Amino acid sequence: MMQSSLNTESKGLHVALIMDGNGRWGLARGLTRLDGHRAGAATFRDIVSAAVPLGISTLTVYAFSSDNWKRPTPEVRGLMKLFAFYLQQETERCVANGVRLSVIGRRDRLPASLLAAIDLAEARTGGGARLHLRIALDYSARHAIAQGLPFTPGPDVDLLVRTGGEQRLSDFLLYECAYAELLFTPCLWPDFSPAELERALGAFRKRDRRFGGLTTSPST
Ligand code: FPP
Repeated sequence: MMQSSLNTESKGLHVALIMDGNGRWGLARGLTRLDGHRAGAATFRDIVSAAVPLGISTLTVYAFSSDNWKRPTPEVRGLMKLFAFYLQQETERCVANGVRLSVIGRRDRLPASLLAAIDLAEARTGGGARLHLRIALDYSARHAIAQGLPFTPGPDVDLLVRTGGEQRLSDFLLYECAYAELLFTPCLWPDFSPAELERALGAFRKRDRRFGGLTTSPST
């Protein structure tokens, strides 16, 4: 089986984000769940802009899990449209900022319009060398592992942040998170901000990462 390499701070960090809480954010404001997803897309854009100055070289985000197909059709359709719209809107900004955009996950169940937007975005941004932005769509880590990881595993995840208060991985990057530091925050995704991300990275840098070894030389 393919072994992904351990990342180091000098290469830049691999941060993974589970962007949870959009639906609750919308409903709490008397809006729809889809309004929450739209607000989440705006937050996502801000987080991508903040990533490189914060020392991140790879950012992988969970946008749609393979289990999310269970949601009501209007929400699923709305999300698919939002993803295509986002890719169309952001591709040139990614090119201008050295962001390479990739989509991980299954491609065989996505709508044709979204597939076209993905192909274009990946082709246009392929030369980006400052940040690798990986968007997980129709993604299931178990499925990827069972298939022998055909969704191109990224480098090992250094820090995984989940917003929205739940404390679980929900089938995201199970292989790449073998030694990830995990951070859970009650903040709903649309309320997450570059300042929150900076705080999360501050907490991450205080953690003692041993990768199964020892921090100090043993005395015996
Ligand atoms: C989980 O919150 C969020 C999603 C299933 C969708 C994530 C999508 C975005 C953040 C939109 C922007 C992304 C891109 C790539 C443009 P939830 O709906 O489960 O929230 P809840 O727990 O409050 O119901």
